[in-house]
Amino acid sequence: MEAEFKTAEEFSKKLDEKDELKDFRDRFYLLKDRIYMDGNSLGLMSKDSEDTLKRVMNEWQEMGIDVWTKASSPLFYYAEKISQKLAPLVGADEDEVIVHSSTTVNIHSVIATFFAPDTPRNKIVLDELNFPTDRYAVESQIRLKNLDPEKHIVEIKSRDGRTIDEEDVVNAMQDDVGIVFLPSVLYRSGQLLDMAYLTERAHEKGILIGFDLSHSVGAVPHKLSEWGVDFAVWCNYKYLNAGPGSVAALYINRRHFGKEPGLAGWHGYIKAKQFDLLNEFEHERHAGGWQTGTTHIFSLAPLEGSLKVFHEAGLGRLREKSLHMTSYMMYLIEEILKGYGFSIGNPRENKRRGGHVALEHQEALRINEALKERGVIPDFRPPNVIRLAPAALYTQYNEVWRVIAIIKDIMEEKAYDKYSKERGVIS
Ligand SMILES: Cc1ncc(COP(=O)(O)O)c(C=O)c1O
Repeated sequence: MEAEFKTAEEFSKKLDEKDELKDFRDRFYLLKDRIYMDGNSLGLMSKDSEDTLKRVMNEWQEMGIDVWTKASSPLFYYAEKISQKLAPLVGADEDEVIVHSSTTVNIHSVIATFFAPDTPRNKIVLDELNFPTDRYAVESQIRLKNLDPEKHIVEIKSRDGRTIDEEDVVNAMQDDVGIVFLPSVLYRSGQLLDMAYLTERAHEKGILIGFDLSHSVGAVPHKLSEWGVDFAVWCNYKYLNAGPGSVAALYINRRHFGKEPGLAGWHGYIKAKQFDLLNEFEHERHAGGWQTGTTHIFSLAPLEGSLKVFHEAGLGRLREKSLHMTSYMMYLIEEILKGYGFSIGNPRENKRRGGHVALEHQEALRINEALKERGVIPDFRPPNVIRLAPAALYTQYNEVWRVIAIIKDIMEEKAYDKYSKERGVIS
């Protein structure tokens, strides 16, 4: 691996000294005596997010109903305003993104919009490794049309149990396929799919393509508009640090603005006429038209602060640091954890991996428990993966070093032996 690294702890401290993003760490509430490696699951709270949430609450307190139109950022337009700031992180035009609802509901919305069961292209390509909620949502949309998901889903199998081969997806793009819907980064192995390539191939065959960006947004730059992706969904509580249950987002390529939203509601109505309260639905001809009901404002406000931090840091610099940190982590795993039965489950090439390292071990569940007791917060994904995500905004290189040193101690002492093999409710 990279000869640029050294195994001594001192080296990690030197990397921290040289880190031009190091001051961003002070913008976050770090957990006392904990090393947080779970920013890919629930990012930490920034002081900026706290400020924006408090501002919105205070204005509600002071203004009551007027908060919709007279707040410093009038809440009637708040979703659109935040969406404009979010759009550059996915390489979209400002009006192609709307923050709304949850990722799962947004999947329902895009599938309800684009699935065309009455045409010859009535199959949807999914992969077997995607986060299961995506599958549940797509299957239920198919069932809502009185169709059998078994017949209308084409499932891409993984060749190695970790990754999806893009060529297998391309081979599945047959004449009866209408939609390909895949994750950008696989939640377990961290594989980053080649979205540009897949989009090009799908469009050559007249197929629509969409992605779930939950594990890449805030970690990896995207060019959704340039690539021509048809639609995308994602959550904002992982790398984007917008808080537990924060409002999610969806992207609709502008060529589809005229399409009827599959899930309609009055907040998708043409804004200037929304309060005419007419019975005939007339949606905005931009992503905002895919809104349904009132935005969950307090679940959105932290994203405003969080995006401020992201724009200051710059996604390019964050991606560079993230790749560097995870390269360093993989180097340490190979040097320091040699001989303890670990393997690295994520692809090695930078262009094929997201923001976390997938550390595999047959005792992963119990090692994960031992890590938590020693003050490290990773997460476990069955059957054998410990996910370690150094977040470029607030994780130090020295923390990466310490995590690997702690794992070595756990293995030396077989400290995982005392834990149950039963998983807790949340791992
Ligand atoms: C790829 C992916 N999609 C969706 C979700 C969750 O969806 P929701 O925000 O609706 O709970 C997750 C959660 O980890 C995920 O990893």
